[in-house]
Order: sequence, then C-alpha cells, then structure tokens
Amino acid sequence: MAKDDIELFVICAADGIERGGAKAFSLSRLNEDGDSRPFPVVIVRTHANDYFAYVNSCPHQHIWLNFGAGEFFTPDRAFLKCGRHGATFEIDTGLCIDGPCQGKNLEPIAVTVVDGEVCLCGVALAEDDEHPNPFEELDDTMEIMIHLD
Ligand code: FES
Repeated sequence: MAKDDIELFVICAADGIERGGAKAFSLSRLNEDGDSRPFPVVIVRTHANDYFAYVNSCPHQHIWLNFGAGEFFTPDRAFLKCGRHGATFEIDTGLCIDGPCQGKNLEPIAVTVVDGEVCLCGVALAEDDEHPNPFEELDDTMEIMIHLD
C-alpha cells in the first residue's frame, strides 16, 4: 500500500445507526508489535446526520460509556454520558464538560461515510476471537470482526 493511502474499515451500514443514536462495537486493534488489543468503539449519529467515533473508554476509569443500562446519552440526548459516574461529554468534540473527568477528552477516531457505510480511517484493525464482547447482553451493541490484509 502506498504510504499516503488512507485505509478505510467498514464498520456498519450508515442507516444501521438511527439519527440521534449511537452504537458500540468491540473491535481489535494491532499494536506496534503486531499483537491485537481490545479496541472498543462508539459511533454516534447526530440528528443532523453527522457521524462521530470515539474509543469507548471513559477517561475517568477507562470503562465503556454504556456501562450498565447500555445507554449512551443524557436524558435530553444532547450529550454523551458515562453510565458509571455520570461524566458528560460533548457529542461533537468528546470533551468532558461535567463529572469526575471534567476537562478530559474521549479519544476521537476519524470516521467517514462511503457508499452508505460507516468507515473508520487509518486504524489497524485485526480479526480476533480472543477478546469477548462485553456488550453481548445489550441490544444496542454489535460485535464485528474485521480482517486486516
Ligand atoms: S468511569 Fe466514567 S464517570 Fe467514572
């Protein structure tokens, strides 16, 4: 692959996430040594039809945001919210504006929509059965496996 090519990894159909909704994905990522590591991701689709992706890990205790009830948002759905201690994040920036990690950021991931599919950009993902999906019991979460050539 040419150095300047941007790798795109299809995650789901763009319409697979409702407007104003979000989904978590349990992916695996290759580290510098070529080992795969859990890579939980949350993708948000706004009412304005923009997509944002973050590592699904709260900066406070580094657990996934949809801990517990599997909900990602504040009751008015204006902000992302961590289910454990209630940290509140701006949807478009990932900045924590309230809660125990105020001022910290969710780790953003470049995301784009190509041919009706949501794709992550430039992340080395791995096919992996090693890490169980922690979201298995939650209806609004999917697990996908991605093969890296
Ligand atoms: S782990 Fe998210 S607010 Fe504590």
